[in-house]
Amino acid sequence: MADAAPNQPPKAPVVAEAHEVDTYHPPQKMLEKHPSKPHISGIEEYQQLYKESITEPNKFWGRLARELLTWSKDFQTVHSGTLEGGDNAWFLEGELNASYNCVDRHAFKDPNKVAIIYEADEPNEGRTVTYGELLREVSKTAYVLKQMGVRKGDTVAIYLPMIPEALVAFLACSRIGAVHSVVFAGFSADSLRDRVIDAQSKVVITTDEGKRGGKLIGTKKIVDDALKQCPDVSHVLVYKRTGADVPWTKGRDYWWHEEVDKWPSYIAPEPVNSEDPLFLLYTSGSTGKPKGVLHTTAGYLLGAAATGKYVFDIHDGDRYFCGGDVGWITGHTYVVYAPLLLGVSTVVFEGTPAYPNFSRYWDIIDKHKVTQFYVAPTALRLLKRAGNQHVRNEMKHLRVLGSVGEPIAAEVWKWYFEIVGKEEAQIIDTYWQTETGSNVITPLAGVTPTKPGSASLPFFGIEPAIIDPVSGEEIHGNDVEGVLAFKQAWPSMTRTVWGAHKRYMDTYFNVYKGYYFTGDGAGRDHEGFYWIRGRVDDVVNVSGHRLSTAEIEAALIEHSAVAESAVVGVADELTGQAVNAFVAIKEGNDATDALRKEFVLQVRKSIGPFAAPKAVFIVPDLPKTRSGKIMRRILRKILAGEEDQLGDTSTLSDPSVVDKIIAVVHDAR
Ligand code: WT7
Repeated sequence: MADAAPNQPPKAPVVAEAHEVDTYHPPQKMLEKHPSKPHISGIEEYQQLYKESITEPNKFWGRLARELLTWSKDFQTVHSGTLEGGDNAWFLEGELNASYNCVDRHAFKDPNKVAIIYEADEPNEGRTVTYGELLREVSKTAYVLKQMGVRKGDTVAIYLPMIPEALVAFLACSRIGAVHSVVFAGFSADSLRDRVIDAQSKVVITTDEGKRGGKLIGTKKIVDDALKQCPDVSHVLVYKRTGADVPWTKGRDYWWHEEVDKWPSYIAPEPVNSEDPLFLLYTSGSTGKPKGVLHTTAGYLLGAAATGKYVFDIHDGDRYFCGGDVGWITGHTYVVYAPLLLGVSTVVFEGTPAYPNFSRYWDIIDKHKVTQFYVAPTALRLLKRAGNQHVRNEMKHLRVLGSVGEPIAAEVWKWYFEIVGKEEAQIIDTYWQTETGSNVITPLAGVTPTKPGSASLPFFGIEPAIIDPVSGEEIHGNDVEGVLAFKQAWPSMTRTVWGAHKRYMDTYFNVYKGYYFTGDGAGRDHEGFYWIRGRVDDVVNVSGHRLSTAEIEAALIEHSAVAESAVVGVADELTGQAVNAFVAIKEGNDATDALRKEFVLQVRKSIGPFAAPKAVFIVPDLPKTRSGKIMRRILRKILAGEEDQLGDTSTLSDPSVVDKIIAVVHDAR
């Protein structure tokens, strides 16, 4: 079966009917404080460019690629391939280097310009890195990797916290044509191990420890644990972040500061073909095994630069702050690539929004005169709940406030606009995915009118289609609901799933022939605005983290007491969705609190703390059809307190199990 085939109808709208909501125009005050004017003059110019991007994509993208990227060899063919064939390729004969585009060309113009504003976990412990310094750091680190035997096309695993060296590591890889494979530093040793093995990485980059929200994270220790089962890793490069005493494997582990001291501050960038891989990033799908999403060089970079320019309206001299972690796609595209490609300053924030207090984001924005801020609604919900007294800050340079990763409820949207932005910055709710590489449905700051809760209109080159999940037919016209797909290829789309191209085809292209399938439900309102309803597959979104229920189930089954489990996502006020697990235990075990705790620990160990179930229900059996398929729908209804709407349960192999599960859930509450 196709990996992401929709198995449930789109969920009910999370926001009020589109017709009833207000439309907000780009605030006048934002335009007044603008350093010049938005890159696009207004909605008419957007429409005109959008039309060109759809009817003449080669002309449109060819022009943008030459304008936004610097090529060591020009391309001749803008695009080849089809969605059906899964063989899309862009800017084919062209050659370029990602780190040259992000660093050198800006350093040559003005080496003293600030590239990175590092805001450490402890306020006042940060520093800045100029483009000139960044070029030296990237060159030295690239040299080190080369000396460790890394060659063009090799993958390098990066397990780093939010520090400038993370960006240096990304760029050092791309400088020598290596492929970075970043693993979020909240993943467990087991998850890291699986990714290192799947990507065949021979070098791992990490720190002695990480520091986040006043707490220490034993990154090196986690790497050591992971590498016990990765015999092919020959080198570990360790950046000294805290100076903690860490175990050392001689001949394998090397200190970053000692190695970079050995090599020169300039190494020439290695030109690569447009379609050479830039990075791998693992993400969760419908099945248990994470997918290594592959992005290639030119198309991805163009998506990052184009959305940075037009969606965030980045201008020279801006200070851009994306609160996402470099371990996820948001950090890849909007902490690292978009701001650096455009030659502005990017804030790298090591800590959390709640440390040392709930004003931390707002203090950073004031301190560094941030112009664009970008964060997930889960953080906004937390800060809104903490109270407006924490938002005393002026933040008068803010022009754009971005939201990403999950639907933003209208009241949170309005709070962001009124309390954080003082009605002087535009809210942009940007919809995209690891696989899309950059924003795909989103307002353009300074241009697009917005409605709270809607991601608004497609970005250039994106041709959305709403498909009826039952008939598989596209639904034309406005005021329609269905699943979201795209009809046309775009430069920053993923090119394959690492080592599993068939899975790539089945997940994205074979579900609806001729379309890229997103896995999300969506509506298009009477004005053509898009409303994202959430996933229609078994992917849950917890605090903007994408998790697969199958992956969590696979983790639980590793515990010796677990016979079977079913994991579902339930609505959660703070985290958007929360993970709830139903577990049937093997005979000889008792349903105790201690056992439930063990199950939670099992998930933390197998995946990472962020995937831990919020509730574990030990049940006598799971609701299964006669053919053995678990009916998660019934579990979701029970959790939502909708026992009276379970629908037909007569197809269950044992209908009496439903009442037993209801009793367990009631007892637990
Ligand atoms: C899934 C992708 C790429 C950003 C970080 C998450 C959900 C993303 C929105 C939005 C509603 C959104 C979708 C999507 N999502 N942005 N603005 N409104 N939902 O990337 O981990 O690849 O997850 O996040 O469900 O499919 P990701």
